[in-house]
Amino acid sequence: MFESKAGILGIAGIGFFLFAFISNVWTPILMYKDVTEKTAEEVVNYRVMAHFGDLNRRYPEAFQEAFGEPTEENCAAALRLGRQLYIGEGCWHCHSQFVRPVSNESKRWGPVSTAEEYQNELQRPVMFGTRRVGPDLSHEAGRRSNDWHAVHFFDPPLVSPDSPMPKYTWFFDGAPNKPNKRGLAIITYLQWLGTSLDSYPYYEQVNADAEEDY
Ligand code: HEC
Repeated sequence: MFESKAGILGIAGIGFFLFAFISNVWTPILMYKDVTEKTAEEVVNYRVMAHFGDLNRRYPEAFQEAFGEPTEENCAAALRLGRQLYIGEGCWHCHSQFVRPVSNESKRWGPVSTAEEYQNELQRPVMFGTRRVGPDLSHEAGRRSNDWHAVHFFDPPLVSPDSPMPKYTWFFDGAPNKPNKRGLAIITYLQWLGTSLDSYPYYEQVNADAEEDY
């Protein structure tokens, strides 16, 4: 076996495969096996609640029909639906949720993503995405206001000239100030992305809003 080149390469190939398996599969499993995965209810925090409450004030009729009162439990339901829409509408074809430690990405989108951010129900499966036609959304929460998102989903170029993002008119009952359950859920989801970080990029702004509102 060791007399032929093919034999040596074959053994080396198996060796490298085992090495990759141990470093990329087995080690991470051992590292994270004791870190429990959080549920949607557990990842609701006052930062996303401030936005959830704001949606209730802005669009009371639609909000109450869709979710009832702005409680933490209903916020978790909105987050679950928002994530399903994110998958179903193919947002991940154009948006990533992973800030890489290269190309100064953290200057545009907040701190480099860490494993901890993905340790919850709303990241199963993870929405890393495959390419970036639009910006990374890992830390989108608080970057825009709820009404900005509503107008943007209704007709992106209204707030972002020349945007190639599609219109999502089925998130509305007719007009940009009439988001339906889907519209409210996807906005809630966006206003949650990144709120688990202590170094949350829009922390101060949201703190100020939350103190006033929630
Ligand atoms: C065809 C590609 C494409 C698809 C599909 C797409 N987007 Fe976008 N999106 C973009 C581009 C390009 C931009 C940047 C221009 C703009 O602001 O509209 C953008 C911008 C955004 C922004 C603004 C980010 C910021 O703060 O500047 C959000 C939020 C967003 N998209 C969410 C979504 C969601 C949610 C979906 C799915 C319902 C979606 N996008 C689907 C291409 C896309």
